[in-house]
Amino acid sequence: MAQLVECVPNFSEGRNKEVIDAISLAISESPGCSLLDVDAGASTNRTVFTFVGSPAAVVEGALNAARLAFSRIDMATHSGEHPRTGALDVCPFIPVQNVSMEDCVRCAETFGQRLAEMLHVPVYLYGEAARRETRRSLPSVRAGEYEALPDKLKSADWSPDFGPAEFVPSWGATVTGARKFLIAFNVNVIATKEQAHRIALDVREQGRGKTQPGRLQKVQGMGWYLDESNMAQVSTNILDYELTPLHTVHQEICSVAKELKLPVVGSQIVGLIPLKAVLDSADFFIQRDGLFILEEEHKVRLVISELGLDSLGPFNPKDRIIEYMVQSGDDSRLVSLSLQQFVQSVGARTAAPGGGSVSAAVAAMGAALGAMVGQMTYGKRQFDHLDGVMRRLIPPFHQAAKELLLMVDADSTAFNSYMERGGDAGRSAAGGERAVGSGREGRRPLGAA
Ligand SMILES: *[C@@H]1O[C@H](CO)[C@@H](O)[C@H](O)[C@H]1NC(C)=O
Ligand SMILES: *[C@@H]1O[C@H](CO)[C@@H](O)[C@H](O)[C@H]1NC(C)=O
Repeated sequence: MAQLVECVPNFSEGRNKEVIDAISLAISESPGCSLLDVDAGASTNRTVFTFVGSPAAVVEGALNAARLAFSRIDMATHSGEHPRTGALDVCPFIPVQNVSMEDCVRCAETFGQRLAEMLHVPVYLYGEAARRETRRSLPSVRAGEYEALPDKLKSADWSPDFGPAEFVPSWGATVTGARKFLIAFNVNVIATKEQAHRIALDVREQGRGKTQPGRLQKVQGMGWYLDESNMAQVSTNILDYELTPLHTVHQEICSVAKELKLPVVGSQIVGLIPLKAVLDSADFFIQRDGLFILEEEHKVRLVISELGLDSLGPFNPKDRIIEYMVQSGDDSRLVSLSLQQFVQSVGARTAAPGGGSVSAAVAAMGAALGAMVGQMTYGKRQFDHLDGVMRRLIPPFHQAAKELLLMVDADSTAFNSYMERGGDAGRSAAGGERAVGSGREGRRPLGAA
């Protein structure tokens, strides 16, 4: 599984299309970066770019975008509704796939340090990357905004984490850091704006203030009226979907709405959502109702239907689930070859793919055959009495086939990286190749298998 970090730089320019396009280009032309979304706001005079890539790739992409912005944005003439402190105002790094929060903190640190060296501007760290408690929350780092910077920079409390404590009028300061993925989730209610807001006050963490906290941790919320749909919404930001999952937010809103005798009619995700958030909710519904669902596609469909995610417009997983949006990019995996190509590549004059990958492929097929027999039994009237048994037996076969397929590439990757590190136990006279009759396993330490 490739490592995927999401980077969401906010630049203080939301009107000049030429500048916005140039920043987009700087990102999309950075190797390994996929630009997923560009959201320009005229009244805020600010544009939010969303792109993903490996940890190293997104740092380069963000630096390229910043370099371009430095030559095109002049903060001295900036105005807009949104609080801001710099031309590149804020640049968070967010874990999406197979990366830890620590990895993202390192991205922020590398980015911050190199940005400061490249442009000689002050840089602050916030969120999970903050080095002082007072810098954890973005609003507190940004307090006073651009206009307050000249004074702030003179005080020791606000000495930058990187770069000079000097005011650079054309740039201001940049805040970078790491945070969790934020899901913007809105639930539709046939109600007034006030009623929707009342639900929001009950569920959001902040509640009605210190004396009356809400039910859900790390959830922000408010009610509003959606004129174009003639409906109210409880609008939420889920700041930690692993702590408070999507389905929990939905359920709580439904239960408060029910107490108030207000109907909930579907919901909406604004922007993107990580696959895990969807699958976690699918697992909840599957558990709750004792459903038999194995395929990912079916799980996604279940969640769309349970939450009513397509109530205001189609929910196309390919455009909304981050992992699906970037999948086509890096497909050099053995499991993506045709069977014919795979067999040819096993037979080719290279040590990998070898016995390990072949064993994994054959074992995966064995498990798949088991699943096949189960699937042909399940759901048939004549085998009704075996329903429970099949629901129990098929999943492990299905899971084994999935895991063994991953081993096909894992074995070859392990072997190749062992060879790159100069493992001469695996090298024959032919230089890294394996001669017939010499027994590859004998010349390959167990650790590399
Ligand atoms: C995550 O990435 C690392 C290194 O990039 C790799 O070794 C590991 O197998 C990956 N993990 C998963 C679950 O794919
Ligand atoms: C928008 O921002 C740009 C760059 O920061 C600035 O030059 C421009 O004057 C701003 N436009 C308005 C209307 O404030």
